[in-house]
Amino acid sequence: MRGGGDAGAYCAPARDGTVEPAGSHVLDTQALASVTVGRVAGGENLNRALAGLWQEHPLLTAQQRGAITDLCYGTLRFGLRLQAVLDALLAKKLSDPALRWLLLVTLYQLEHTRAAPYAIVDHAVRCVARLGTPQAGGLVNAVLRNFLRRRAALLAKADQSDVGRFSYPQWWIDKVRAQLPQHYALVLHAGNLHPPYTLRVNARRMQRSDYLALLEREGIVGVPVGVSGVRLARALPVGRLPGFAEGIVSVQDAAAQFAAPLLEVEPGMRVLDACAAPGGKTTHLLELADLDLTALDHDAARLDRVRENLERLKLKARLLVGNAADPASWWDGEPYQRILADVPCSASGVVRRHPDIKWLRRPADIKQFAVQQERLVDGLWKTLASGGKFLYTTCSIFEEENCMQLSRFLARHADARTLTLHGFQSRDGTPDGLLLPDNEHDGFFYALLQKI
Ligand SMILES: C[S@@+](CC[C@H](N)C(=O)[O-])C[C@H]1O[C@@H](n2cnc3c(N)ncnc32)[C@H](O)[C@@H]1O
Repeated sequence: MRGGGDAGAYCAPARDGTVEPAGSHVLDTQALASVTVGRVAGGENLNRALAGLWQEHPLLTAQQRGAITDLCYGTLRFGLRLQAVLDALLAKKLSDPALRWLLLVTLYQLEHTRAAPYAIVDHAVRCVARLGTPQAGGLVNAVLRNFLRRRAALLAKADQSDVGRFSYPQWWIDKVRAQLPQHYALVLHAGNLHPPYTLRVNARRMQRSDYLALLEREGIVGVPVGVSGVRLARALPVGRLPGFAEGIVSVQDAAAQFAAPLLEVEPGMRVLDACAAPGGKTTHLLELADLDLTALDHDAARLDRVRENLERLKLKARLLVGNAADPASWWDGEPYQRILADVPCSASGVVRRHPDIKWLRRPADIKQFAVQQERLVDGLWKTLASGGKFLYTTCSIFEEENCMQLSRFLARHADARTLTLHGFQSRDGTPDGLLLPDNEHDGFFYALLQKI
């Protein structure tokens, strides 16, 4: 079974909070994943929900944590489709939400993992007893066995609705269809795939061809992507990446690797990375040239991660905690020749890395992000030198945060002009600067501006 571990090592607590040895760890991972999915459905961010779970259950092994994480990601990714299937299986709404989350996790296991179906169903029924509702065991058993019997017909029925087919909220599907009519089905599908796992080779330390040879010697399969990227055939913990601790490589998606080269930095330039944490693009900029670089972020804890990354890569930058929208509170008045504004956004281009956002975002959030982005870019523009370049980027595919944001900016700032983005091409039928998520990279948007 995926994510198998030590049977009986630890047991999920019952509702009363008591802990006792379990007969099977699979039982625990299923129960704990369903509790976590329920917390996300209730509005909690997945990373925080998992961090809370590890604190509540400190005896979970790394393997168990991995299995729970996999179940949560998969269930949240396909959960809206599975919900459509579940609704078709149930005669009436479930009164206990905990049962719904357990059934969703179990349907995900039945549909998307290779574990034996009878074992999955059996564990789900035993989980019900642990959740304190043994009387629901019969219902759970009947629903799951019914799914196994009528699987093809139920999935075909789910395919008849947008939500059942694509597994996104209806408003999200409507927006992508309206904004990217030629590409929407592929974009939605790409958002449900496992994301590519891509490294960036530190040009100061090693050539990509040498790193590829190093990987080959270690039996790790990787292919070149972009200018200095290497896509691995499968994800590895960073501790197992050759040269990671020594600063030879960083983990960074291929779309994010476009940012630093687009700014065309030269040694000695005064550069601001305005939304810097955790420092993926800060460090890339510094790998390209010795710069007088300030890494700004309003979140001091996240800025610590920039510091760690700089130390690992043996690079130097000035770290500043501050609100990019309010330069008066942190800027020394000397203009920057280059500014990178990797602004907070809906993250709709990286939903496959954060499937919880399908559950957490609301339509009104997109407008709010756009307003926040507008304040940031207007604040930062004041700090750009005449002739200087400004790169605006998001990991969103929604036009409110991208091309609409850009055209509104150009309308407000007569001293701004757009520059050609060398090195990548948007697909036909999409706005300039928009990269759609695919097998190579995440969904991103770039706009390069110059102050005239
Ligand atoms: C998309 S992430 C940046 C990722 C980063 N550039 C990288 O490549 O690793 C956006 C960052 O903006 C920061 N942020 C949000 N609002 C901000 C503000 N008003 N001023 C400065 N930073 C802000 C967040 O804390 C977050 O770290």
